[in-house]
Amino acid sequence: MAKFTLGKSKDDVMGMLPEGDIKITQLGARKVCVVRAGEDVFAFEQQCPHRGAALKDGHINGQGEVICPLHAYRFDLKTGRLASGGSCGDLQVYSCHLSESGLEIVI
Ligand code: FES
Repeated sequence: MAKFTLGKSKDDVMGMLPEGDIKITQLGARKVCVVRAGEDVFAFEQQCPHRGAALKDGHINGQGEVICPLHAYRFDLKTGRLASGGSCGDLQVYSCHLSESGLEIVI
């Protein structure tokens, strides 16, 4: 496990992550998707576990889920669990903590 910090303050992170806009960030050797909903921030793998679509092109709904752009499967942003769609594995999600010191992500 490795810990990364983005930004130097909460305001910094809020500015870097416009609400609902899925961004890709490089953390060490890995690129992950990061998205903010209010003061909740979520990080998850870039590719959909169904057929590998780029989740940065998906969107977030009001139920705390990311919706894949290819076949519209939905995954819970907190747990990565498949919320709807056919059958596939769960989405890999990463622990995030937003504080006055920035955004900490553990991968
Ligand atoms: S590739 Fe994501 S739902 Fe099929």
